[in-house]
Amino acid sequence: MRSRFSLIVMAAVLLSACAEKGAEVEPYDPARDYFSFANTDEFLTEHLALDIDVDFDAEELRGSVALRLRRIDPTSMEVILDTRDLAVSDVQVLLAEGDPVAAEYHFGEGDTVKGTPLIVRLPKEAEAEARFELKIQYSTSPDSTALQWLPPGLTAGGKHPLMFSQSQAVHARSWIPLQDTPAVRATYEARVKTPAELLAVMSANNNPLTPRSGEYQFEMPQPIPSYLMAIAVGNIFFAPLGEDTGVYAEPELLEASVFEFADTQEMLERAEALFGPYEWGRYDLLVLPPSFPYGGMENPRLSFITPSLLAGDRSLVYVIAHELAHSWSGNLVTNATWRDGWLNEGMTSYLESRLMEVIYDKDRVDEQRVLSYRELLLDLETVPLEMQALAPRLDSGDPDSFQGSIHYSKGELFLQYLENAFGRDVFDSFLSDYFAEFAFQTITTQRFLDYLDGKLLRVEGSKVSRTDVEGWLYQPGLPEGAPLPTSATLDAAAAMAHAWAEERVDVSEIPIASWSPQAVVHFINSLPEDLAEERLAALDESLRLSDTHNAEIGRTWFIQVAERRYMDAYGPMRQYLSRHGRGRLIYPIYLALADNGSDLELAQEIFESARGGYHPLAEAGIARVLQSDRD
Ligand code: BES
Ligand code: ZN
Repeated sequence: MRSRFSLIVMAAVLLSACAEKGAEVEPYDPARDYFSFANTDEFLTEHLALDIDVDFDAEELRGSVALRLRRIDPTSMEVILDTRDLAVSDVQVLLAEGDPVAAEYHFGEGDTVKGTPLIVRLPKEAEAEARFELKIQYSTSPDSTALQWLPPGLTAGGKHPLMFSQSQAVHARSWIPLQDTPAVRATYEARVKTPAELLAVMSANNNPLTPRSGEYQFEMPQPIPSYLMAIAVGNIFFAPLGEDTGVYAEPELLEASVFEFADTQEMLERAEALFGPYEWGRYDLLVLPPSFPYGGMENPRLSFITPSLLAGDRSLVYVIAHELAHSWSGNLVTNATWRDGWLNEGMTSYLESRLMEVIYDKDRVDEQRVLSYRELLLDLETVPLEMQALAPRLDSGDPDSFQGSIHYSKGELFLQYLENAFGRDVFDSFLSDYFAEFAFQTITTQRFLDYLDGKLLRVEGSKVSRTDVEGWLYQPGLPEGAPLPTSATLDAAAAMAHAWAEERVDVSEIPIASWSPQAVVHFINSLPEDLAEERLAALDESLRLSDTHNAEIGRTWFIQVAERRYMDAYGPMRQYLSRHGRGRLIYPIYLALADNGSDLELAQEIFESARGGYHPLAEAGIARVLQSDRD
């Protein structure tokens, strides 16, 4: 099997190499960020100063950003920044001495993924300057892909509007004109004006005691990549979780959030013991309305979190462990381009498991690993071979849609494989050295490989060769020797699914109350394909699957409901699709409806009624799935 895969890939590589030769196209540069227009080889941003008004009526941010730029190329007189749907009204250059000088600017030709380059022609006065500031007056569009403006009706409290950003991967440019590439890191400060009764928070030094004044100041003293720029404004309040940790949420969700995320302080302390010092000051969470399109987003000092984690039993807090772990893998050591995303997500998935293991137990981690592994195997069936490498060629398409389980689960398996080969102690010290060595830098996969090579692979008696590692990084599928996760409790749940399906046990004998939500998920996934409708009805009635408050159980169940066309549960499925907005929860259910041969129209109808509550990014993704003319 594997050799056939390799042959196909080799053929594809050869073919594309020939095509390139014929057309004299520039060769692919693995270190280049193909998703930014910024001329970062000529100027680098060191610091941003934002000064913005948050206008809920117009659904726009309005104000200025001053970018402090360091000149890399002594001759360049043109600065190219990334923007999307921004209106720019003025650009000034501020030099160390003298008055600000107006700069000429225009928009270049853009595209739907990258947005539009803003090209600033520097005035003569800036010619010899090693450093200067560009001050840009601008406003965002209500269609900004990063910002969601929620009317009061889409918040928990229902009385105040709420706005939040999601900058990863390439959306910071739709609320700030900047060099929008993870290859560049900058510090920032901000002044934010809001309606007086609302609170603004940012991926910066939020002071939990800040009085509500409608005017807020922030500072982010550590340099961060642009995809970690973040802001939210709403009727949000703070509750402490521990000495350095806390949670912001609408008051209606605060108590539930404090209960669900009670272990955050311990997570932070354990994470420091495992991975090295936490470099960011406080660690807080912000629980957003259901339209937040991700489970969590690792905005530094303030992870943004979906309310779908509020299961009432702390069973989904691995997402918190994940976002916290990004404080090392991602926020401290950052992928240089989106192709290297496994350095962020795979490494973080590995650290997440390590953290969960010390705080909870290994069985729970193994359960989660088995579930992720199953998702990986499913993805490997559909992801094109050339995209199955941990670091594939990535120079087109949308980096947002490039976040399946390859980076996450294959990346985690790779690091698990290294841990197994070198032993936990050796691998742990490798990791803390790695974080110390590359702290506040961005690195490519190649750089990681060279570092690993020098530290571990070349040591006497190493069980892993550079070629083995290159297989993981650059080849499709799963290499020989990949560690396969197992879980006795999930095996038991799967056995129970078969026993019940074969009528060897009665539904009343399924010990669901003693199972973890992960075991319930696995049980549902293990049901055989050919179950009669009455059998599903009996199961649902007894286990109350359609009424579950656990978003992951709901996700798994309603995917099955849609695939099997179990129509008795279509009502609750519809409710689920309007209650949740996190892409992971809703996208596969729409996909299953669209693919079951009969329900594309129903899916479109449900989508029409629910889409008002979705984030524009989730909405666009689902709209693509539901285009009736797709093949
Ligand atoms: N950084 C990601 C979210 C992301 C990835 C946003 C790519 C935009 C583009 C975040 O850390 C994440 O991985 N979230 C997961 C959590 C899960 C793997 C525990 C999610 O949202 O499901
Ligand atoms: Zn992540």
